[in-house]
Amino acid sequence: MSIQTVTSTPFDDQRPGTSGLRKKVTVFSQPHYLENFVQSVFDALDDCAGKTLVLGGDGRFHNRVAVQIILKMAAAHGFSKVMVGQGGILSTPAVSCVIRKHGAFGGIILSASHNPGGPDGDVGIKYNITNGGPAPEQVTEKIYEHTKSISQYAISDAADIDIDQIGERRVEQMVVEVIDPVADYAELMQRLFDFGAIKKLFAGGFTMRFDGMHAVSGPYATAILEGLLGAPAGTVINGVPLEDFGGHHPDPNPVNAAELMALMDGDDAPDLGAASDGDGDRNMIVGRKLPVTPSDSLAILSAHAAVAPGYRAGLKGIARSMPTSRAADHVARELGIECYETPTGWKFFGNLLDAGKATLCGEESYGTGSDHIREKDGVWAVLFWLNLLADSGKSVSELVSDHWARYGRNYYSRHDYEGVASHAATELMDSLRVKLGALAGQDLGLYTVDAADDFSYTDTVDGSVASGQGIRLLMTNGARIVFRLSGTGTEGATLRVYFERYEADPAQHHIPTQQALAGLIAIAEQVAGIIDWTGRPNPTVIT
Ligand code: G1P
Ligand code: ZN
Repeated sequence: MSIQTVTSTPFDDQRPGTSGLRKKVTVFSQPHYLENFVQSVFDALDDCAGKTLVLGGDGRFHNRVAVQIILKMAAAHGFSKVMVGQGGILSTPAVSCVIRKHGAFGGIILSASHNPGGPDGDVGIKYNITNGGPAPEQVTEKIYEHTKSISQYAISDAADIDIDQIGERRVEQMVVEVIDPVADYAELMQRLFDFGAIKKLFAGGFTMRFDGMHAVSGPYATAILEGLLGAPAGTVINGVPLEDFGGHHPDPNPVNAAELMALMDGDDAPDLGAASDGDGDRNMIVGRKLPVTPSDSLAILSAHAAVAPGYRAGLKGIARSMPTSRAADHVARELGIECYETPTGWKFFGNLLDAGKATLCGEESYGTGSDHIREKDGVWAVLFWLNLLADSGKSVSELVSDHWARYGRNYYSRHDYEGVASHAATELMDSLRVKLGALAGQDLGLYTVDAADDFSYTDTVDGSVASGQGIRLLMTNGARIVFRLSGTGTEGATLRVYFERYEADPAQHHIPTQQALAGLIAIAEQVAGIIDWTGRPNPTVIT
């Protein structure tokens, strides 16, 4: 065994975005491509000698190959130890948990989150820092700078090692500890939630379906729900991770989780339906005939947080991304705590959590989490709901309608236009930006624009500024339309349009969402000319 220096040259565009670097397998698996990126990560970290790294991924196609390469490169850079999930498997929240629990220097997550997998699908890589959260922009920019000037990388020529048996082995001087991917995470969950109460709930006949979507959360859900909590076998469906996710799109929303939605709509629907995404950080909660919007879920969990042992002391604050509905703001107001509004992307929550300013946080895109780790957490959210259901004895729909009756309902929807030509999407946004000044104060029929801007965020902890985070039309009655371009797609551009309208009157809480938002939807078209720019008469996905 020895360490080799391999000559290499930069690849086009290895800039890690909000959620790391995501590319098609065909791009990612080119010779030296992954190696270039990993070398750039290690270069950006300066000194890796003697440090511990956590490594794992969502099990998609190319995961195993990438794990072996990264192990050999970590050994060449002097890491003293890499903790790798058995079979190369670790969910994103589990990586965050393991980094924090074992005081590791950082971690590498192999995942393209909810993007499809398989030889024609996507693959991705992301570096998480010592607090367990995604690398902040200063770090990702530093990585990117290195990718532009790279000329060589260092790698051990050792043979592949066994990552399927738990235990310790070595690559060069470096210890590779193959760990149970679930154990540390399950231990943390048992400290946060009342497992006794949830166990009783299941023992009393409570029924649930958790759709693992053949992605990484399956093993976690199976071990915790069916193992520790005694839910009947079959509670977890599609629970075995597959390299192509069984051909499904592992993104939990009512469109992709159609099978689960049909079940929850039927006459023998279980009490609770839930799903997670490719890397296990997203969650969808569904009651009988009632999908809970992620924005409402954050608000409901915030209002009842004290039912869970881990949150009994109360919340320090709540944080939500800007396009997420303001349902949680109402709860924060009543609790007398701050509700922070951050740009889209989990990394913006990290500083607030580290500074002890926020306890719970969430995004409209099926992401919910807390200060227990520094990533959003799918199985955690499901356990929180189970704890709440066990404690209250109410059904999901009772909890939701009680919540609306007390705080009012924030009607909410997101319209996605996927795979739009990049230049058309950029021009649509540019043309909106030009109109912002003229829009303020305009009477648009049902709504009058109070203010129109491009969201800019100043981090209250480190003072950093993130601008251009989404165009907002704020109406005088508190309704909103937000336009932004996705930063995570891998094909063309995705335009996301978000709609929100507040309704205090419980007699008006039964209106179908798209109908309740129809006025705003028409205004978005009138103002932005979406059909003309995108050539799409309708959104590709409505959530
Ligand atoms: C999407 C979601 C965003 C989330 C991110 C990573 O990003 O909208 O809330 O943080 O995935 O899971 P987008 O594609 O909108 O940039
Ligand atoms: Zn994800």
